Amino acid sequence: MKKLLVHYFGMLSFLIVLWGILLSCSHHEPHFRIGVSQCSEDEWRHQMNSEILREANFYDDVEVDIRTAGDDNARQAEDIRYFINKGVDLLIVAPNEAAPITPVVEEAYNQGIPVIVVDRKILSDKYTAYVGADNYEIGVAVGNYIANTLHGKGTIVEISGLVGSTPAIDRHQGFMKAISGYPDIRLLDTEDGAWLRVRAEEKMNNLLNLYPQIDVVYAQNDRMAAGAYSAAVRQHREKDIRFVGIDALPGEGYGVEQVLAGELDATFIYPTGGDRVMQIAMDILNKRDFPRETLLNTSVVDRDNALIMKMQTGHISTLDGKIEMLNGKINQTLTRYATQQGMLLVSLVALLLVVGLLVAVYLSLRAKSRLNRELSLQKKKLEEQKTQLIEQTELLEEQKEQLQQLSHELEAATHAKLVFFTNISHDFRTPLTLIADPIEQLLSDKTINEQPRQLLELMKKNVYILLRLVNQILDFRKVENGRMELHLEPFDLLNSFQGWNDSFRMALLKKHISFNFETGDADYRMMADAEKMERIYFNLFSNAVKYTPENGKINIRLEAEEQNYRLSIFNSGSYISSTDVEAIFERFYQVDGHQAGTGIGLALVRAFVEMHGGNIAAHSNEKGTTFMVTFPKQDVAQYHPTIVTLPAEEKEVSSILVDTEILVGEEAVEADCPIVLIIDDNADIRTYVKSLLSKEFRVLDAADGAVGIRLAMKYVPDIIISDVMMPGMDGVECCRRLKSELQTCHIPVILLTACSLDEQRILGYDGGADSYISKPFNSQLLLSRIRNLITNRRQLKQFLGDNQTIEKESVSDLDKDFVSRFKALIEDKMKEPDLNVEDLGRDMGMSRVQLYRKLKSLTNYSPNELLRQIRLKKAASLLASSEMTVSEIAYEVGFSSPSYFTKCYKEQFGESPTDFLKRKG
Ligand code: FRU
Repeated sequence: MKKLLVHYFGMLSFLIVLWGILLSCSHHEPHFRIGVSQCSEDEWRHQMNSEILREANFYDDVEVDIRTAGDDNARQAEDIRYFINKGVDLLIVAPNEAAPITPVVEEAYNQGIPVIVVDRKILSDKYTAYVGADNYEIGVAVGNYIANTLHGKGTIVEISGLVGSTPAIDRHQGFMKAISGYPDIRLLDTEDGAWLRVRAEEKMNNLLNLYPQIDVVYAQNDRMAAGAYSAAVRQHREKDIRFVGIDALPGEGYGVEQVLAGELDATFIYPTGGDRVMQIAMDILNKRDFPRETLLNTSVVDRDNALIMKMQTGHISTLDGKIEMLNGKINQTLTRYATQQGMLLVSLVALLLVVGLLVAVYLSLRAKSRLNRELSLQKKKLEEQKTQLIEQTELLEEQKEQLQQLSHELEAATHAKLVFFTNISHDFRTPLTLIADPIEQLLSDKTINEQPRQLLELMKKNVYILLRLVNQILDFRKVENGRMELHLEPFDLLNSFQGWNDSFRMALLKKHISFNFETGDADYRMMADAEKMERIYFNLFSNAVKYTPENGKINIRLEAEEQNYRLSIFNSGSYISSTDVEAIFERFYQVDGHQAGTGIGLALVRAFVEMHGGNIAAHSNEKGTTFMVTFPKQDVAQYHPTIVTLPAEEKEVSSILVDTEILVGEEAVEADCPIVLIIDDNADIRTYVKSLLSKEFRVLDAADGAVGIRLAMKYVPDIIISDVMMPGMDGVECCRRLKSELQTCHIPVILLTACSLDEQRILGYDGGADSYISKPFNSQLLLSRIRNLITNRRQLKQFLGDNQTIEKESVSDLDKDFVSRFKALIEDKMKEPDLNVEDLGRDMGMSRVQLYRKLKSLTNYSPNELLRQIRLKKAASLLASSEMTVSEIAYEVGFSSPSYFTKCYKEQFGESPTDFLKRKG
């Protein structure tokens, strides 16, 4: 289509150009331009101009421009120059006066412009042609005519034309020549009438005054004759004088009619000859032969022929009019013709455009149908391809579905495998703990014999191998689920690696492996998770030891590069194929011949390395295998560790402060023995933990969360140890409930579980747990944690007991509120001397035991002690600030006797209230 449009527009532009050419052809540029410079403006000149123009009509490529100088030489010179400058092809000049106009005519002639001098002459022969009457002969004819009229005797006055113009000179000389033959004819005077009527009238007036007898007036044209006649009429001498003129123009008031009117005796034809002038001009311009001098004939018009003359000229004038009219019609026809021609051209162009358009439409339709044919072919092909594609897509979809199905099945299988491993691992940990810890306990017995000790050591070693495997699987699950967290802290790679190398000394010795640890002189500190770093290093080092043959070697190198720290661990002797090297870090991948592992160790190493922003690679050749680990360098100073601070597990327990007050309740508890409540659904665990703690603590136990909460409410123990995964209420929920009850919210809770996943720990802490210990646990660690928590609670007690403020952060809002409410209650009721714990408990919404246990646990004071403390502090402040007496104060703060008050006051503050008042003065 685009091609067609281009085609069409190409044709359109061609037509436009064609139109332009046609239009330019129809436009007429004149072939010749002719300039006519007339000296005067009068009827004789008009007639001449009309003849020129009429004649010009017969030539269709001529333009005639006529300018009239109004009898002014300077103006005429200007007109001629104008024509020269305009570049006319030919110049026609009727000079006003010969001398002033000659130079400018010569100028034009010299420039190569053909010049036709008409009527009057110049004083040079630098002109192309002359057309005009023979004025000398006219003068002669006039002289002869007057001489005849006067019969050879009489007086004459002459009124001459402009004396500088050649006709005036020639007419005078011819006249003088003619009358010179008549001695009795006398020319009285000659006056310059300048070819004008008014001038002639003036001059005639003078002449009439001068000459009383004038027979004939010879005026060199009819116009001046009419002026002279008027002067004579005014002096009533017209009847005595005969008037003779020249020109003999037809028409009203001109020469012929002047004769008929009797004003003129006679007039002589002075032909205008404009048509002849034009003919010669065209001959010159068309390079045809032409006469250089054309003399026009003259003839007399008197009373005898004037009428005929008039009639003839009238007839001629009618014919002229008709010619003019015909000319007009021809012009009209020509104009119409030109218009029609133009319209024809326009129509032609329009027609061409339409034809062009039709051709373009035809071409476009042809192209379109061709295009349609091609398109339908393509469409057919595309439809075929589409059908094929649909078939292929369906096939692919089917394959995809099968693959997805397979992938899902594989994923489900992998997931099931991992879940199975994870569950098994969880299940393994509790029994492993129950094996590992008793073994540890047995081994700590110094009296045990060597043989059973070796057996126990073997058991211990294998239990820990099993535990490590189980832990690896659990860790790997964490990594897979994206729940493995990084606990960053400032870490020195070099120090740690060097320290850990010691652990391998025995293994290296056993296999006679030569070991080399190289390092450069640099700062190897970075932020890292020490535990994970240890796992990385131990795993890679253990692998190296494992796969190095006897007498082989291991080289470890730690270097600091510009951006990274690089750790390379090389061991000789083992070779891993390049395919295996690529897959070695995939989970469950086992290198042929290395079936010993689970295929998880290296996957975990890679995960730990990547968690630190590093990467790990391996390469192997016949010499051995190298593992390369890089860690990005960091600016330790700017790094803020993002350690998830778990409660310290290693803090040593200081001495345990024991409660001095005796518990009052259904089940008495020994005064110096803190109560531990253990909640676990596993009876073995309960029994085992009981056996661990019973020396130091009074142990209560519950098989599920609900029973646990009931016991906690009843006995308000000093600490609670709860399993997390239990049927019914789980440990986290149990903890949350304990922490939301006023009676139990202050009790530290340790969650004990096989789940080591961090998110479970976090859940536990969110539930308000104070500590978390993973199974398998170390009995010493558990004991240490219990003591530690009790110590912390005691430090808190001192704080709450001794100070009035309870802003300490680790105290729950519930407990802060409890202590404040209790203190306010005492302030309010201290005046009552028989205020007792039972009443206070009721006011606080607790049993006596609960209030006692809770206050003791929170503040280290029994309710009674607290009551006495607060009374004494109030008393001290009253003593210091009021005018009250000691007795008044004793009763005011609720002591039943002033002497018991004084005793207690002295015990508390080391001086009696009276001594204080004396000191105060
Ligand atoms: C016209 C005219 C005529 C005369 C002629 C002489 O301008 O004055 O009357 O015959 O010029 O050049």
